[in-house]
Amino acid sequence: MAEDIQVAIDGPASAGKSTVAKLVAKRFKYVYCDTGAMYRAITWLALDHQLAINDVDAISELAKHATIEFKPGEEEQRVFVNGTEVTKDIRGNAVSKNVSAVSAIPAVRTEMTRQQREIAKKGGIVMDGRDIGTTVLPNAEVKIFLVASAHERARRRYEENQEKGIHTGTLAELQAAIELRDKKDSTRKVSPLVQAADAIKLDSTNLTIDQVVDKISAIITKKINN
Ligand code: DC
Repeated sequence: MAEDIQVAIDGPASAGKSTVAKLVAKRFKYVYCDTGAMYRAITWLALDHQLAINDVDAISELAKHATIEFKPGEEEQRVFVNGTEVTKDIRGNAVSKNVSAVSAIPAVRTEMTRQQREIAKKGGIVMDGRDIGTTVLPNAEVKIFLVASAHERARRRYEENQEKGIHTGTLAELQAAIELRDKKDSTRKVSPLVQAADAIKLDSTNLTIDQVVDKISAIITKKINN
C-alpha cells in the first residue's frame, strides 16, 4: 500500500524519541521498532556471558547469532533476546553504562542494521535510533531529527526516574552522563549520530509530547497524500 511508508526518527539520548515514535506508530497503525533496545539487548547478552566489554571478537560473534524479538506488552513493548525476556534489565545502569561501547563495534552494527532492514522492509514502520535516516533506511520517506537541550533532557529523565522509583543520582549528574553519551555517540567512527541531509530537525525543548506527535503526524500525512 502506498501509504505504508517508512518513518525514521533519530536524535540524541533522552530527546523523547521512543515516547513520540510509539505514539506516532499508534496513530497510523504502524509497527514501532526501538533500535536502541536492540543494542541494549546485545549489551545485556555480553554482560550475561561475562564477556569483557572490549572483547570485540566475542561480542561480534554473540551478535551474529542473537535473535532479538519484540512482543506487545500491556504497558510497553516487551524485548526478548535468545528467548529470555530482558525488557526491564536493558534499562538498568549496567547496560546503560556499556551500551555505547557495544554499539560502536562494527560487526554488531552490521548485524543490527541487517535485522532492522528486515523488520522495516514492508513499510508501515516507525523506527527510532541514531543512524536510521543516514544508514539503516536511507530511503525512508519521512526522516525526523529530534533534539532538545541537554538540560531539558536531563530534567525529563530525572522526573521519569523519580516516578519509576529508580535512583540515578542528581540532576547535574544525569546531565553530565547525557552529555558524555552524546559525545561518544556523535564521535564514534561507525555510523555516528548525525542529521541526515534530508531530515527535518525538530527541537522539542519547549514542546509537549502531544505537540511533537502532532507535528510529525502532519509531516507524515502530507507525505502520504502527495
Ligand atoms: O536510544 P537508547 O538510549 O536506548 O540507545 C542506547 C544506545 O544505543 C545509545 O548509546 C546509542 C546506541 N544506538 C545506536 O548506536 N544506534 C541506534 N540506531 C540506536 C541506538
